[in-house]
Amino acid sequence: MTESRVPRRRRYLVCEPRHFAVQYAINPWMHPDAPVDVGRAQAQWQTLMDVYRDHGHTVETVAPVPGLPDMVFAANAAVVVGGRVLGSLFHAPERRPESVPYEAWFKAAGYDVYHPESVCEGEGDFVPAGRWILAGTGFRTTREAHREAQEFLGVPVIGLTLVDPYFYHLDTALFVLDEGGDGSDGNIVYYPEAFSPGSREVLARLYPDAVIATRQDAMAFGLNSVSDGRHVFVAPGATDLIARLTERGYVPVPVDLSEFQKAGGGIKCCTQEIRS
Ligand code: ARG
Repeated sequence: MTESRVPRRRRYLVCEPRHFAVQYAINPWMHPDAPVDVGRAQAQWQTLMDVYRDHGHTVETVAPVPGLPDMVFAANAAVVVGGRVLGSLFHAPERRPESVPYEAWFKAAGYDVYHPESVCEGEGDFVPAGRWILAGTGFRTTREAHREAQEFLGVPVIGLTLVDPYFYHLDTALFVLDEGGDGSDGNIVYYPEAFSPGSREVLARLYPDAVIATRQDAMAFGLNSVSDGRHVFVAPGATDLIARLTERGYVPVPVDLSEFQKAGGGIKCCTQEIRS
């Protein structure tokens, strides 16, 4: 409670949900028959953008493309570490065309994009955590893509196996509170039951002081949060987690993206961090 957490200004890449919809089902949250309120989704998303800017973060936008209803989930389009852009190869054929406008954005911004040969879903499954990158597999991104990422980025990649289809991307089961530095490995929050026994053990070894989330937090998309090192932009339904974060000296900033849960997404899914 007494520790003072220090925020770091971030640069985020996002995509307005103008064409957001649930038209196909590629995860257990998606039900194409259930209605989506696009106006409500746009208002919720706009609030998130306003909150980021109010906290000093920079937000850059990729223009949305008609017919790509999941393009709002910018986190899946790439992972950028040290100015190197690892592009995506989506698992679902419906999402593969999203790579084109995101790659065009990076090229226009002066970055080269590496094209993975194996299925690779950007920050959905790659979570940069300071000295290493935590990487999920089991539903989308492959082990082979972990190898490609390590080779291209030159950062150790620690593979973790996801086992619960509701938490099909690593960023639905875990997030980084702070990246560490100066001899510290930083810290994370995670939901252990989303991982295989061996992966749970790896996380416990790397992060003995981690914040452990409940299933209720996870089902409320609480693990799909964004932290700047002090403020944690978090789903309001993750009430246990919000209490834990406050106890640890973080400042939870609840932002409701409930309309996006219908597609299996939340705050982090809508946010890609550009790490130069
Ligand atoms: N409907 C999208 C999919 O299943 C949601 C992606 C959510 N993004 C994320 N980073 N978890 O691919």
